Amino acid sequence: MYNNNPTLEGIGNKQIDESKQGDVFYAEQVQSKVKDKHFYIESYGCQMNFSDSEIVASILNDMGYAPTRNMEASDLILINTCSIREKAEDTVRKRLRIFDKVKAKRPGTLVGVLGCMAERLKSKLLDQEKLVDLVVGPDAYRDIPKLVAEAEGGDKGINVFLSREETYADISPLRLDSNGVTAFISIMRGCDNMCSFCVVPFTRGRERSRNAFSIVAEATDLYQRGYREVTLLGQNVDSYKWENPETTDKVTFANLLAMVAAVHPDLRVRFSTSHPKDITDEVLYTMRDHENICKYIHLPVQSGNSRVLELMNRTYDRDWYIQKIDRVYEIMPDCAVSSDIIAGFCSETEEEHEETLSMIEYANYSMSYMFYYSERPGTMAARKYPDDISLEVKKRRLTEIIRLQNQISFRHNQGDIGKTFKVLIEGDSKKSDQEFKGRNSQNKMLVFPKRAGLKAGDYTYVKVLEATSATLKGEIVE
Ligand code: SAH
Ligand code: SF4
Ligand code: F3S
Repeated sequence: MYNNNPTLEGIGNKQIDESKQGDVFYAEQVQSKVKDKHFYIESYGCQMNFSDSEIVASILNDMGYAPTRNMEASDLILINTCSIREKAEDTVRKRLRIFDKVKAKRPGTLVGVLGCMAERLKSKLLDQEKLVDLVVGPDAYRDIPKLVAEAEGGDKGINVFLSREETYADISPLRLDSNGVTAFISIMRGCDNMCSFCVVPFTRGRERSRNAFSIVAEATDLYQRGYREVTLLGQNVDSYKWENPETTDKVTFANLLAMVAAVHPDLRVRFSTSHPKDITDEVLYTMRDHENICKYIHLPVQSGNSRVLELMNRTYDRDWYIQKIDRVYEIMPDCAVSSDIIAGFCSETEEEHEETLSMIEYANYSMSYMFYYSERPGTMAARKYPDDISLEVKKRRLTEIIRLQNQISFRHNQGDIGKTFKVLIEGDSKKSDQEFKGRNSQNKMLVFPKRAGLKAGDYTYVKVLEATSATLKGEIVE
């Protein structure tokens, strides 16, 4: 569920295109009110955070703040932060130094820290970062109007209360940096899993599922506004469960997938992230039976070794994971699977690392997000297991993992040469306005010469002619 840019540092990268700064255009500015104030927002971390920023934008819009990409022209600078690895937090602190300079030039500008780092550090953040005026945890965004008012009055505004109920179900997100074709829909919040390395249960709180009808309504609205793909988001989507309070009918994730798929056959449905212990055959059959549910599963393995998986508290072992992979390919032979992998977890031996490599081969991942282990304060691993693999060894193992995954991705993509895929056009390719880019059902990016009459949001058929480890190149064959 991350930036498609696996690096040694992994995720947490700023997704904003610097070249676009200064250009005050957003896909959807609600024009009805006169906006005399502006906010600027940067998001880091997982798709959930990017999706949350759109909720925050909607709340700010109602307060009379319009979005801007020019931080120097903004009255409120917000940073939606990630705590997943130390690097992610370092990046945020560096950005705060930059905001400091803007604030010096434009006194009165407020700076707010949102998201997981706000939750992890709470009021400590106000002590450590003097320029920060607001600290708002992921479940407290409805309180932003009050907190901004407090900060305007010269007080520091903080709310890091974690809720058992909040799903922002009734807030219609203001889509930021949208291509008008694809959108995220949050279907649940929090996580109850307690993987030993992971800070998310601490920063996001308990798992809760959003009203299924509000999800379908959001998907329907997006479809009517021209969007053609939705990605249902949660840390562990397979444990989605919602009970209709009126009928006591229970909606499982498989039911929800079918409900969203029924919005329109031309609305593609994706989802992320699946947990290997929870993904059911029912979900796999629902995917198989709906052409518009994409044949792609992000199924993070983390490690290929059963002892390490146990230390990680992933609650499955190597054999269980292999059986899941077999099941996916048995039910949907054309499905692509991707993964998250952690190198150098506490006490991991060379042989155990080798088992991660062999799992990458076995699972034939189309791609993976790969990281070296970063100890997070307060997690079970930090409390129980020494972080005893040297940085040098972690990096070497990670390099081996990345090298192998690149080979497997290349092979996977080469296997598509000669095949024709239905592609949803997302817009112009990065390199040329003579070419379109779009994804196939398997979530692979295809680049191909434009054809008159086609535009972003249309489907077309593309035959693959060339492939690298990252992209397929082809031509339209209608
Ligand atoms: N809910 C998702 C993942 C959330 S975090 C899931 O369960 O798969 C995204 C990824 O970051 C994780 O899958 C894991 O690979 C990585 N990650 C999490 N904590 C980490 C840590 N302490 N060090 C390194 N990588 C970590
Ligand atoms: Fe973290 Fe595990 Fe929850 Fe994913 S499932 S968010 S890795 S605790
Ligand atoms: Fe990061 Fe929080 Fe997501 S820690 S990965 S932004 S849930």
